[in-house]
Amino acid sequence: MPSGESFFIATPIFYVNDVPHIGHAYTEVAADVLARWHRQGGDDTWLLTGTDEHGQKILRTAVANGVEPKQWADRLVESAWKPLLETIDIANDDFIRTTDERHESAVRIFLQKLYDDGFIYSGEYEGYYCVGCEEYKQLDDLELTEVGDYAGQLVCRIHSRPVEILKEKNYFFRMSQFEEQLLELYAARPDFVQPESVRNEIVQFVRQGLSDLSISRSSFDWGIKIPWDETHVVYVWFEALLNYITAIGYGVDDEQFARRWPAVQLVGKDIARFHAVIWPAMLMAAGLPVPHRVFGHGWLLVGGEKMSKSKLTGIAPNQITDTFGSDAFRYYFLRAITFGQDGSFSWEDLSARYQAELANGFGNLASRVVAMVNRYEGGTLPEPGAPDEADLAIQAVVAKAAADADAAIERLAIHEAIAAIWTIVDELNGYITEQEPWVLAKDDATRPRLRTVLYTASEGLRALAVLLSPVMPKATAKLWTALGAEAGLGALPSNDIRDAGTWGQLPPGSQFGALDALFPRIDEAAESGAA
Ligand code: ME8
Ligand code: MG
Repeated sequence: MPSGESFFIATPIFYVNDVPHIGHAYTEVAADVLARWHRQGGDDTWLLTGTDEHGQKILRTAVANGVEPKQWADRLVESAWKPLLETIDIANDDFIRTTDERHESAVRIFLQKLYDDGFIYSGEYEGYYCVGCEEYKQLDDLELTEVGDYAGQLVCRIHSRPVEILKEKNYFFRMSQFEEQLLELYAARPDFVQPESVRNEIVQFVRQGLSDLSISRSSFDWGIKIPWDETHVVYVWFEALLNYITAIGYGVDDEQFARRWPAVQLVGKDIARFHAVIWPAMLMAAGLPVPHRVFGHGWLLVGGEKMSKSKLTGIAPNQITDTFGSDAFRYYFLRAITFGQDGSFSWEDLSARYQAELANGFGNLASRVVAMVNRYEGGTLPEPGAPDEADLAIQAVVAKAAADADAAIERLAIHEAIAAIWTIVDELNGYITEQEPWVLAKDDATRPRLRTVLYTASEGLRALAVLLSPVMPKATAKLWTALGAEAGLGALPSNDIRDAGTWGQLPPGSQFGALDALFPRIDEAAESGAA
């Protein structure tokens, strides 16, 4: 069992009404990079993801496809949502489905507790509901359409489809009681909701006043039954939010729960309110700690609009990985977009960065250095001589990059972490151009200097193989092997990400292997089918 601190990170659980697109993959990849970073730093890490399977939206999709909702969910989970994790190389520790028995029973425990403690009462709900959002709507959230199929009707601003008018006897959660406590939370812990833009929106929203929340539905039955009144099912959001604790043993396995909770929660900003208002209020009512933090990242835009299946702008992740590979997918979205802001996806930008940063920048650096150790030193890493100023500058760049990257990850500034690590790529490329090892190799008198240069460059690669491993696990594993880092010659270099900046870990005498291009040219790769 890792000795480090607990690091529990969760993605939203995704609706199974449809297949995933790159927006869902984006959240997954960001969470996975953070999890891998912490895991590689020895923290007691747990990455949770999963699927949201109850509610009217899924029920209607299943009915439209002529199957039972559970059958539909099984089909989508097995054919689309679990395969997504393979496609983009996610190393999750758990996958929760809201139809899992462990979830359903723990949801009942939670509800019963809130009911017994007086936080739930029965009442009448009358108002609007958008099935696309699975959300009760206020008039502000709607607009009256004038043209098209829905002319004269009130539509949801997000889905551009008519809302329904509900009049149901429902159970309500006394959310309004938590208004003050929530405002205190946001004030006392400015990191609780991030980034700043999302935090401001949330604070503004709560300041306007909170109403109680309807938490049950009685007009259909695809959900978890309310324990004391089986004519109702739990409102899908109230139930779905609980996945973050039902997955780690809430109400059943106190030890596991205490070990993991609270979580770092990554969500898209579209669902930040659910996570930063309703969810902490639910936890407060149950007397449980609120999340460590809730980070609402930005949207991937296509043609200036939020990418979405309902608007037919969805791109399937494998459309990208089939050509560029999963490492490039992971790198691109986390490097090109400031985490927390919206970002536009374009094939041109992806291709250009693949070529410039991955193939020519990092990939070429790795190939050149490994090839030179093989050519000039017969594949044996040489003993370096005393470092000169240029060598010491590289050592300093590596130490600073490692420290800066770790600090950036702590702030969830993933793009900054990658940029910090990339200073090693850029500085090393400059170093090799200046040192001209191919010239040093020509003369016996400069062979000692050659050895120092090759050692310095190889050590830089060693640091890159460790630091970039959370982002590009496949390429860095190949590099690590080519550096002879696992061959067991004396003390092995550390894979601990927080030791990455410590100089001189590759033992001289290490046997290098061959290294194929880490990021092959796309046209070649497509021809050989290798990507
Ligand atoms: O909301 N850009 O599920 P969902 C970036 N089941 N991220 C995007 C995106 C885009 N264009 N489109 C989707 C739900 N996402 C609920 C969640 S949690 C208890 C229940 C990502 O399938 C982003 O993480 O609609 C967003 O919040 C999520 O997918 C919405 O997924
Ligand atoms: Mg959605």
